[in-house]
Amino acid sequence: MDWLRRWLVALCVPLALCAGAGAAARRLGSRSAERSTCNALQGYEAKLSENTHSYSFNDLGGSVSLAWVGDGTGVILALTTFQMPVFLVKFGQSRLYRSENYGKSFQDVTDLINNTFIETEFGIAIGPENSGKVILTGDVSGTSAARIFLSGDFGRSFSHVALPFMPQMQILYNPQDSNTLMVLSVKHMLWLSLDFGTSWRFVHSSVCLTKWGTENTIFFTTTTVNGSCSDRGTLLLKKTSDYGKTFQSIREKIYSFGIGGRFLFASVMTGTGNMRSIHVSVDQGEVWNIAQLPHVGHDQFYSILAANDDMVFMHVDEPGDTGYGTIFVSDDRGTVYSKSLERHLYTTPGGETDFTNVTSLRGVFITSVMAEDGSVQSVVSFDQGGEWEPLQKPENSRCDSTAADKEKCSLHIHASYSTSLKLNVPMLPLTEPNAVGLILAHGSVGDAMSMSTPDVYVSDDGGYSWQLALEGPHHYAILDSGGLLVAVEHNALPVSTIKFSTDEGQCWRLYNFTDEPIFFTGLASEPGARSMNVSLWGYRETYFSQYWVSVTIDFRELLTRDCQEGDYVEWLAHSDDISDPTDGCMLGYKEKFLRLRKDSVCWNGRDYAINKQPSPCPCTLDDYLCDFGYYREENSSKCLEEPDLKGRVLEFCLHGKKEQLVTTGYRKIPGDKCVNGEQPQRKEVDLSAKCVSDLLGPELLKDGQPSSSAPVIASVIVILLISAVVAVLFVKKYVCGGRFLVHRYSVLQHNAEANGIDGVDEPLDTGVGASAKIEFHDDSDEDLLE
Ligand SMILES: *[C@@H]1O[C@H](CO)[C@@H](O)[C@H](O)[C@H]1NC(C)=O
Ligand SMILES: *[C@@H]1O[C@H](CO)[C@@H](O)[C@H](O)[C@H]1NC(C)=O
Ligand SMILES: *[C@@H]1O[C@H](CO)[C@@H](O)[C@H](O)[C@H]1NC(C)=O
Ligand SMILES: *[C@@H]1O[C@H](CO)[C@@H](O)[C@H](O)[C@H]1NC(C)=O
Ligand SMILES: *[C@@H]1O[C@H](CO)[C@@H](O)[C@H](O)[C@H]1NC(C)=O
Ligand SMILES: *[C@@H]1O[C@H](CO)[C@@H](O)[C@H](O)[C@H]1NC(C)=O
Repeated sequence: MDWLRRWLVALCVPLALCAGAGAAARRLGSRSAERSTCNALQGYEAKLSENTHSYSFNDLGGSVSLAWVGDGTGVILALTTFQMPVFLVKFGQSRLYRSENYGKSFQDVTDLINNTFIETEFGIAIGPENSGKVILTGDVSGTSAARIFLSGDFGRSFSHVALPFMPQMQILYNPQDSNTLMVLSVKHMLWLSLDFGTSWRFVHSSVCLTKWGTENTIFFTTTTVNGSCSDRGTLLLKKTSDYGKTFQSIREKIYSFGIGGRFLFASVMTGTGNMRSIHVSVDQGEVWNIAQLPHVGHDQFYSILAANDDMVFMHVDEPGDTGYGTIFVSDDRGTVYSKSLERHLYTTPGGETDFTNVTSLRGVFITSVMAEDGSVQSVVSFDQGGEWEPLQKPENSRCDSTAADKEKCSLHIHASYSTSLKLNVPMLPLTEPNAVGLILAHGSVGDAMSMSTPDVYVSDDGGYSWQLALEGPHHYAILDSGGLLVAVEHNALPVSTIKFSTDEGQCWRLYNFTDEPIFFTGLASEPGARSMNVSLWGYRETYFSQYWVSVTIDFRELLTRDCQEGDYVEWLAHSDDISDPTDGCMLGYKEKFLRLRKDSVCWNGRDYAINKQPSPCPCTLDDYLCDFGYYREENSSKCLEEPDLKGRVLEFCLHGKKEQLVTTGYRKIPGDKCVNGEQPQRKEVDLSAKCVSDLLGPELLKDGQPSSSAPVIASVIVILLISAVVAVLFVKKYVCGGRFLVHRYSVLQHNAEANGIDGVDEPLDTGVGASAKIEFHDDSDEDLLE
């Protein structure tokens, strides 16, 4: 971890700039000729105090988990858990509370679960879509069985079922049918229920990892005879499409597998040394191809950073303990990859990456690279990984005076990597698809990421320009589709003040929500950012004990009128000149949005839909990737034929299908919708002729033995890697459908608490030695591949 030590240490230099409360002079952007109006809101304190609801829990639970049930129902389940080890036996107690009014008041419904201790790590499973289903997994101490509590009516009532096994993970709903559930037991047995948990059927033994595919398919890895799940590289990938009546082995010598978008990936031992490679299938494991990615050894890993149905971002670790690797972006088949970013920071498998899909603007991604000198720097891509550049310096902030290079001054975003270093960063960057262009993030300004206390920066145009919004670290949340932002200062002292902004973070007002300050642990609002109700969670201390408090503020009365047509302005994404017809094209089309004017103080409403008008752009060569067997000359858009196909491309020759080897060299970038314009005209070339001569090498035809039966080193840590971004995606996915979100706060760690909506997921362990970080919320999916 030498590079860690080289991490730039900077002194804490307070930014002597005015931001935070008070009007900050603002860049006049394309759509904001208006000035911020910080005094338009009269008498808001009185209105807010009428709509502030405080609830104290008669409870000294050590942690609380929150889950939203349903969409727009206002139902929240709060599970407090008090747990302590007594002579190595876990002794715990849970209490369950339910709210029907967005957290304004709760009812103690502990009797519904008969005082059973509910697993904190994975005990709450909320059904997909608006199914209203809830499963709580209880731990009946001292027995080898567990008990689950099932609700189909948004947690109003529960029935209970004794399980014939002990689950080791969260119960997984079939995304297509929430009555179908599966789970692995601690003894690696796969169990299935087709009647929403009432009866359970044993399906398969020796299962290491299991995932739902589409169309009721289950994919899982199993061990070979007498093997164990830690024998990575010897596993078998199987699937069943009929709920366990029949099984099909679809790949062997598996190290791990993952699903991203419509792609099924498996990392498979190549048979030469300890190397492995990525195999990919787009038809549920029937036909496989070898991805054109570097092979990796036992000390390296692969990770899906983000994926959708069009393409995937894949990280490939460098050999050795470097802390970085390379990002590749795929074509629409998942087989041919282009190099996107080198020296991409990604510490270890199960470690941290800052890779963030900026969901508020199509095509924008932010991540960090490690420079030659070991410093960490943020970069942004506005074209889905095509090019990366430093973030622009915010106009209203100054460069870190400790920066080595005064010329290079840009904004650096603190994300998972910083939180893993225990920097004072209480939240990850926050974006919401319905809050167009908006990004809230902690950052520092200089030539590299600084260790000093970060500030909160806001971008309103998807990351092109930035503004210092709040000094010092804060918790923040987006409400009313971006029409309202709230923030609470992050420090160890009790708080009584919340900040809010109705103009995308330029002007912040203060509101004292209580006379009796609370030890604040986190903000919670309904996933999806449409709500106007936000809860501050925390605790108060009495002489003898601590108890949980939640204060819910309803901002609805503040924004007294509904937004009208005149409250919106037209905004062209990815553009600084709306009148330029060639400006704003991204992946072959441009989008004009109607966005709320900054000076409009009005209510978007729950049903607010982003109004976007896409129009296609003419194609250029930049709308194409170079296909297999072709490469792009530096500084040119042309794809040239590779003189020979030696090396790793060989396997594509071996296994690639005929039609994949016939190409003009150009392939539309996945998701690109350009029309007309430049259409590369070139005769189709059949590359298989080039392949054949190489295939004659006898050593390549021989399918090597698995090099050794010794377990691969990485298997000592049986941790499966979840990419932060995939986790975020997962959350988003549920945000649109169901409410599968669990926040967890801990009194014991109130300085490093929950991350709100965009928390990073902890690597999920398939069996041994799970060590969940309590400060992050957990939803339990992992789409890793490692
Ligand atoms: C609840 O617990 C009590 C005492 O442990 C037990 O007698 C009762 O049967 C339980 N009820 C249910 C519904 O589990
Ligand atoms: C598996 O283990 C059993 C008992 O330990 C042994 O009898 C059997 O030969 C082993 N099978 C293989 C394939 O190693
Ligand atoms: C990034 O997020 C957006 C919005 O949620 C989503 O539509 C897109 O597919 C994501 N991109 C990738 C590569 O995951
Ligand atoms: C809010 O509280 C702070 C400190 O607790 C105090 O300085 C400030 O005057 C209060 N503001 C209002 C509007 O009451
Ligand atoms: C806020 O909560 C109230 C119930 O207390 C609910 O009626 C209202 O719809 C919520 N507002 C939003 C925008 O979700
Ligand atoms: C490509 O462009 C960069 C920057 O404009 C320049 O430094 C580099 O020399 C160019 N490379 C070639 C091969 O022309």
